[in-house]
Amino acid sequence: MNPRIRRRIEGREARVGILGLGYVGLPLAMEFVRAGFDVTGFEVDPGKVRALNAGRSHVGDVPSAAVRRAVRSGRFRATADFEGLRDVDAVSLCVPTPLGKTRDPDMSFVEDASRAVAARMHRGMIVVLESTTYPGTTAEVLLPLLAVDGLRAGRDFYLAFSPERVDPGNRVYGVRNTPKVIGGITPACTEAASLLYSKVVDRVVPVSSAAAAEMVKLLENTFRSVNIGLVNEVALMCDRLGLDAWEVIDAAASKPFGFMKFTPGPGIGGHCIPIDPLYLSWKLRSLNYQARFIELADTINSKMPEHVVEKLALALNDRRRAVKGARILVLGVAYKRDVVDLRESPALEVIRLLRERGASVRVADPHTGPFRIGGEEFRPVPCTPRELKASDAVVIITDHSAFDWRSVVRHSRLVLDTRNATAGARAAAARRGNVVRL
Ligand SMILES: NC(=O)c1ccc[n+]([C@@H]2O[C@H](COP(=O)([O-])OP(=O)(O)OC[C@H]3O[C@@H](n4cnc5c(N)ncnc54)[C@H](O)[C@@H]3O)[C@@H](O)[C@H]2O)c1
Repeated sequence: MNPRIRRRIEGREARVGILGLGYVGLPLAMEFVRAGFDVTGFEVDPGKVRALNAGRSHVGDVPSAAVRRAVRSGRFRATADFEGLRDVDAVSLCVPTPLGKTRDPDMSFVEDASRAVAARMHRGMIVVLESTTYPGTTAEVLLPLLAVDGLRAGRDFYLAFSPERVDPGNRVYGVRNTPKVIGGITPACTEAASLLYSKVVDRVVPVSSAAAAEMVKLLENTFRSVNIGLVNEVALMCDRLGLDAWEVIDAAASKPFGFMKFTPGPGIGGHCIPIDPLYLSWKLRSLNYQARFIELADTINSKMPEHVVEKLALALNDRRRAVKGARILVLGVAYKRDVVDLRESPALEVIRLLRERGASVRVADPHTGPFRIGGEEFRPVPCTPRELKASDAVVIITDHSAFDWRSVVRHSRLVLDTRNATAGARAAAARRGNVVRL
């Protein structure tokens, strides 16, 4: 690879750009700053740019104090002016890759970001795509946009894919101690991107191509989606068999080999697991292949909110109550424990279905602020004994550690627990007989 770029990386003189300062881009930017690099964050949202330069973080896993320190050190700045891309030696693209209205990949953010880089390409530049996407994106979408004016990847610039694997809210694994898979368009591209990332992560795992790296990420998330789909179906089957799914799963998990524990729930959420596998099935459809596991898991997982509402309706019915007119308190709206993120959260669908059936719905979530579903605004309320007592039923969707399960069991008339969160309060629950599990 280009010896000048190598020297600049080794000497921590290389200037690093991060394009897109969201859940993925901001932690990565902070890690480059910590490793001693000069980092510029390029971000289209002027509100985020202003907040970050003022030392305020909008990402749960990045404390504002870390952003403030980075800004004060002079090694981090955010900007909406992309001209500065001309001065960076390397840029990582961390822009969204949502699904469009027809649930096909929406590549517009990746294309816009690539065009912004292409207009400022220079010799020796390292470009790394981090956004989750279908196999072939880096070679088929980015490469043609970046290879301008006869510049060749692997010779004049370096292009690679390296999937972000961050697990929001995980206190053990962050950017630094999660190995980074890297696949370049050419071996020189893999080498250049690996050298750069080796300065910020403990271990780099090079693979033979950008497409292989893209596929690695999709395998990881498909693995989760399919296994969650499997245990969700186990829960549905146990329901019909009159068995306790959690008891069965816990006992199976006592096997020290050949079994990995996944737990059922109200459906899957977040920006990754519900969406990423569909990128793969979409790509495979274009090759006349049906990704059956992915589609089946998606069908089962996306039907779970309906099952939750049905189960609640039956439990209310047993108590001579209809869903229509019932006051329901939904505990936890974020898609998983102790995070603020509502994206794709199954709680949203559960609430929508409850409202459709005429329930009056209140929500409690210590991490999230007001949000809207359709035209209706929901403002989280504190989970107090009074709130619990006033509800006809309480539905546990997200098992935030801030909730007091004993209080929930003690003060509620009826609890539908979709996470087995009340297991610790089970003795009290058994006594009261007011807890129904998924
Ligand atoms: N959030 C996660 O836990 C996670 C984990 C692994 C992978 N990913 C993947 O990483 C990618 C980014 O996800 P995220 O969660 O950080 O999204 P995000 O929405 O939090 O952040 C993306 C940021 O990019 C900005 N942006 C959009 N277009 C831009 C452009 N042309 N130039 C500069 N900035 C632009 C947006 O304003 C936003 O701030 C996605 O492909 C996602 O699938 C996310």
